[in-house]
Amino acid sequence: MALITIDGATPVTFECDESDTIMRAALRHGLGFPYSCNVGACGNCRFQLLDGEVEHLQESPRAWTERDEKRQRYLGCQARPLSDCRIKLRTNEQYVPQTEPVKVSATFKEKTVLTHDLSEFALELDKPLPFLAGQYALLGASAVDGPRAYSMCNVSRNDTEWSFQIKRVPDGAMTTHLFDLLQPGDALTLDGPFGTAYLREDSERDILCLAGGSGLSPMIAIARAAAEHPQLRQRRLDFIFGGRRPEDMCGEELLRDLPGFGSTLHFHSAISEDISETEWSGLRGFVHDVAQQLFGEALQSKEIYFAGPPLMAQAVQKMLFDLKVPLDQVHFDEFY
Ligand SMILES: Cc1cc2nc3c(=O)[nH]c(=O)nc-3n(C[C@H](O)[C@H](O)[C@H](O)COP(=O)(O)OP(=O)(O)OC[C@H]3O[C@@H](n4cnc5c(N)ncnc54)[C@H](O)[C@@H]3O)c2cc1C
Ligand code: FES
Repeated sequence: MALITIDGATPVTFECDESDTIMRAALRHGLGFPYSCNVGACGNCRFQLLDGEVEHLQESPRAWTERDEKRQRYLGCQARPLSDCRIKLRTNEQYVPQTEPVKVSATFKEKTVLTHDLSEFALELDKPLPFLAGQYALLGASAVDGPRAYSMCNVSRNDTEWSFQIKRVPDGAMTTHLFDLLQPGDALTLDGPFGTAYLREDSERDILCLAGGSGLSPMIAIARAAAEHPQLRQRRLDFIFGGRRPEDMCGEELLRDLPGFGSTLHFHSAISEDISETEWSGLRGFVHDVAQQLFGEALQSKEIYFAGPPLMAQAVQKMLFDLKVPLDQVHFDEFY
């Protein structure tokens, strides 16, 4: 066990297991260590090492640059301590977890096919653990090197059931394992919950959920939790799901049975490829364009959640920025 001290006017010290990372250990101790992706890709968890020794879990995490290395800067989600450490970073209240993440064992129960490349995986944890709608966990399989982040799609009832809607990535190590090899009863590990793009239950605004491809899961969780919530179910919720082609579409059947579907809860699907009118008569364009066409400046008064691949996330952020949507109404965790 290493002792990590965050330097400052009032230094804070916490314990970090040698197999854990400094950021995850800080969150387990209720500290607001900034982060987003948890997989070494966004750089939000960067800190400066003042004393001690660390090593990254991945050899070359995507967000770690030569300049970082020269300046003794590391990624908190990837850095595991090799000794006691003193580090410099600014903690922030917005990252203080509402439920501190823990590592648990889980058993794979069943898979439900949603489209040609998207399936829902139901897992049973070995102990009950709550999470907030929109959050994610790190899923590990002994046959795959390193965990991957996946967002829960079910509503937490503080029980042992966590489900994930996962998109197959061609030749992807984890998704090939999950889609082709995983059998009911197989053991997996989960570490979580993580993420700050969870449903804001105290907001009085109408809600917009934007999902692209692999981003379906957390947006489904947000819509399901809002539909059950005594105040939020009175609000209008629009759900836009985007894919390339008609066969990528799903989501409506997952929401249709929720209270308010068709009155307060509205589902829109859009495809981005140029397909003939006979094959697709619905909305066309990228998710951010569709949101802008449907709502324009009315976006400024909505609580907006989005999830999807990096290019979609960048386009949505730019569109919302250009339309002057206040940043504190926009919630997302960076997907990679
Ligand atoms: C916050 C977040 C939430 C996500 N939620 C979902 C979701 O709900 N549904 C969904 O379908 N996808 C989700 N993803 C994407 C998912 O985590 C995977 O990237 C995707 O499934 C591809 O994984 P793969 O192993 O099949 O592909 P690969 O291409 O083999 O790996 C994908 C990525 O994993 C990382 N990686 C590779 N090796 C290691 C290692 N040893 N240790 C740690 N990381 C490694 C690399 O960054 C690589 O780009 C999410 C991603 C993030 C960051
Ligand atoms: S790089 Fe660490 S949280 Fe994204």
